[in-house]
Amino acid sequence: MEWTRKDLLSLYDLEAEEIECILDTAAEFKKVSQRRVKKVPALRGKTVVNFFVEPSTRTRVSFELAEQRLSADVVNMQAQASSLLKGETLLDTVKNIEALQVDLVVMRHSATGAQAFIASKLKCGVINAGDGAHSHPTQALLDIFTIREKKGGIKGLNVTILGDILHSRVARSNMWGLLKLGANVTLAGPSTLVPREFESIPGVKVCHNLKDAVANADVVNLLRIQHERQTAGFFPGTGEYARFFGINAESMKFMKPDVMIMHPGPINRDVELSGEVADGSNSVILEQVTNGLAVRMAVLFLVAGCVKK
Ligand code: CP
Repeated sequence: MEWTRKDLLSLYDLEAEEIECILDTAAEFKKVSQRRVKKVPALRGKTVVNFFVEPSTRTRVSFELAEQRLSADVVNMQAQASSLLKGETLLDTVKNIEALQVDLVVMRHSATGAQAFIASKLKCGVINAGDGAHSHPTQALLDIFTIREKKGGIKGLNVTILGDILHSRVARSNMWGLLKLGANVTLAGPSTLVPREFESIPGVKVCHNLKDAVANADVVNLLRIQHERQTAGFFPGTGEYARFFGINAESMKFMKPDVMIMHPGPINRDVELSGEVADGSNSVILEQVTNGLAVRMAVLFLVAGCVKK
């Protein structure tokens, strides 16, 4: 298929063929990097601005490396050192960035829909690196890429997403992407963090019991307890959470032997996941990070090809 979008905002917007197009393109970039080719000229002459208004380690570094590997010119903008602090609006800020002949803006923002809003106002491409609790498309793409690579496909797999679903953009993006590719999705965690309303989405099961949620899972994707987004007491404490929903050597006993343990990072060790399991043989956490590079190269490459200025 031919890629036609100048922005990547959410997996909810994409057709299954578009998701597969990104995954297939990422697989090609991964093959290239395995041949120890450090750089390709695909984005030579293009300028990308990375604008992270929320903290990030993996996504920011991975995008920057992906841009460098594609030979783009890269500018990293620090929100704390920008004129946003002087009261400039987000739209004025990005319009000024665009006036400097920038081709792509990669943005993370705490407000749901911030990237969709600026994408509708700009001619340059916009890639969503995470907006509020809404969407984190490249994280879900790298998760799905890792599952497809390890399990040979997505259709029919049982994938459990466990933890703070309510506040998680990773959960929502994974859910939409996995459903479009034919997986069975279980959303699991305390009832305060996994509202039953999710069950009205076709293909989704909601489960509030750890054993039931993971016993038949091919993949368990754990989510970070997002302390910074907890505005109310959704559970009594991290000790309580770890006791009922934490994954550790004991809970691994009632899972399939070849279950894949995933986590987008950063991990709260010994809260949602014990160190032993995070670093154990079922864990693919660092492979997810590695795959993020090829996936972000694919997204940048496809989106840049559709920017008309
Ligand atoms: N998974 C993820 O988005 O990590 P960062 O917040 O470090 O980018």
